[in-house]
Amino acid sequence: MITDLSLNSRINDVFLLKNKEFKVRRDKKTIDMFFKIADKTGEIEAINWDVSMDKVDELRSIQFAHIQGYITRQKDDGSLQATISSIVKAAPLDLDYTDYLPQSKENLDELMKKLWLKIKSIENSYLRTLLKAFFDDPQFAEKFKRAPAATKVHQPYIGGLLEHTLSVVTICEVICNIYKEIDRDFLITMAILHDIGKVREYAYDKVIEHTDEGKLLGHIALGLEMIDQKIKNIKGFPQDLELMVKHTILSHHGHFEFGSPKLPSILAAIALHYADEMEAKISGFINIKEESKDFKEKWSKWVWWLERPIYLDEEIILKNKIEEIEGDKDDPFNSQGSN
Ligand SMILES: [Fe+2]
Ligand SMILES: [Fe+2]
Repeated sequence: MITDLSLNSRINDVFLLKNKEFKVRRDKKTIDMFFKIADKTGEIEAINWDVSMDKVDELRSIQFAHIQGYITRQKDDGSLQATISSIVKAAPLDLDYTDYLPQSKENLDELMKKLWLKIKSIENSYLRTLLKAFFDDPQFAEKFKRAPAATKVHQPYIGGLLEHTLSVVTICEVICNIYKEIDRDFLITMAILHDIGKVREYAYDKVIEHTDEGKLLGHIALGLEMIDQKIKNIKGFPQDLELMVKHTILSHHGHFEFGSPKLPSILAAIALHYADEMEAKISGFINIKEESKDFKEKWSKWVWWLERPIYLDEEIILKNKIEEIEGDKDDPFNSQGSN
């Protein structure tokens, strides 16, 4: 597995090849292949020097390959780089794709049960019927359970969408407790449905990647289409409620430049947008900290979607402060606490 590799390790196994780039050297003849080798535990930068011209098309098309080489470099930030000597396309029958798909650490069946409790808590019969129209369909429920929340940034793994959705629902419940003006049924329904288009935006059977319709339409348009189809089959679904549902889907990214064609114009829509943004940003932040845990540096690499690096010493400082307090026997607060 990728996480078992260290400097000078020999590599001799099947990996997923990602981010392939072929660069021609200054001599205008020699081509080097820069890529990443990956499995469900992570990914490592790899270089295959001096690739022959007639191999480039073949290598470009390979997704899974038997790789041989060595880990030849450890960068200052702790990340590893491999030099690869052999790439042979792996036979599909020899592959267990679950070895290459990153997975949620949560029990997804348990999370689905939690989601069902939320669906059953919806009292508005039109909204509950709309939710059930999706989740009573076993094929949709299975796709939703396994979908990633993204290909990068936040929860980019199997089960990520379910984790993200439940967290957004939980944040929305807190919002409803604070702001009694918000209709709980509507906000929770929309929290559950807001990203359903992602089951079509991403493919996640072999590798996690965008589908063609994901690239061309995106999950906001796809979600709107899916909801439109379901509402058409619910007899008597109120037209003004339908508009509010669709508006909340369209506006949930909150800004035109983030793909929303409409800005949130109803109370529940603005609440959902901030709940969604908060969940995605915090989860993405945690993801960077997780990826940077072997870094020797105080600061992470530049994070493109935050437009900043992040400070990695937060936990060490807070832990030291707690130990300082616990170690101080003369602290009157501490002696009181031990009585
Ligand atoms: Fe979204
Ligand atoms: Fe979301």
